Amino acid sequence: MERPFVLSEDVDSWSTMIFLYRSALKEVGTKVEILNDEFQQVHQYNPIEYIKSRIKSPESIVKKLKRYGYESSIDNMVSHVNDIAGIRIVCSFTSDIYKLAEMIGKQNDLTVISVKDYIKHPKDSGYKSYHMLVTVPIFLSDRIIDTKVEIQIRTMAMDFWASLEHKIYYKFEGNAPGYISRDLRECSGIVSMLDAKMLQLNEAILKAKDAQEEDAGAV
Ligand code: GTP
Ligand code: MG
Repeated sequence: MERPFVLSEDVDSWSTMIFLYRSALKEVGTKVEILNDEFQQVHQYNPIEYIKSRIKSPESIVKKLKRYGYESSIDNMVSHVNDIAGIRIVCSFTSDIYKLAEMIGKQNDLTVISVKDYIKHPKDSGYKSYHMLVTVPIFLSDRIIDTKVEIQIRTMAMDFWASLEHKIYYKFEGNAPGYISRDLRECSGIVSMLDAKMLQLNEAILKAKDAQEEDAGAV
């Protein structure tokens, strides 16, 4: 039987675990920044608007384990809570999301465990985002530990929607009145329209600029 987790007795293993997840966030964060810089170098364009990362709070970890029906032990946390280390990448355009996801997937030292495309298949709530669960090797002095990081990639509009929906969800503790959930789903449709329109506009701008440069070159 697994020994239940007691924070006062397990401070060492708890802090080692958090240290690993912090290190994993640093590794993945740096990788993503390098990809963004390389993109700037090659295409003179940054696909990423901003990156946020966080370590899940002990309370949320314990709450999630409880929800899944597991005891609070370090082993259970490591095995069953996939988002202890989370990184959120916010892009301007939906096309950037897929470019980044592909680049992340091709990194030799990252292992992609799973992908959930809530952009092609939004949740019932209307939630849209592209999720990747990856592991990154953390090189300690005497061993290497593959550590999980949840990567969420979304547009600014999707992020705006998700933050607001999250606040509302918490206000009503999951029981928002029907008309609010309906309005949120409707807003999610508006987010998709805005994202599609902005992408179209961006493509039109690039095309117009190319044509202008060609004209200037021909003179
Ligand atoms: P969680 O137990 O909620 O983490 O779900 P999961 O392990 O099945 O993973 P899932 O891909 O469904 O969700 C992972 C994360 O995506 C959540 O922790 C949230 O950050 C985000 N998320 C998922 N669904 C929603 C939603 O309906 N609204 C908002 N605002 N965020 C969501
Ligand atoms: Mg989560």
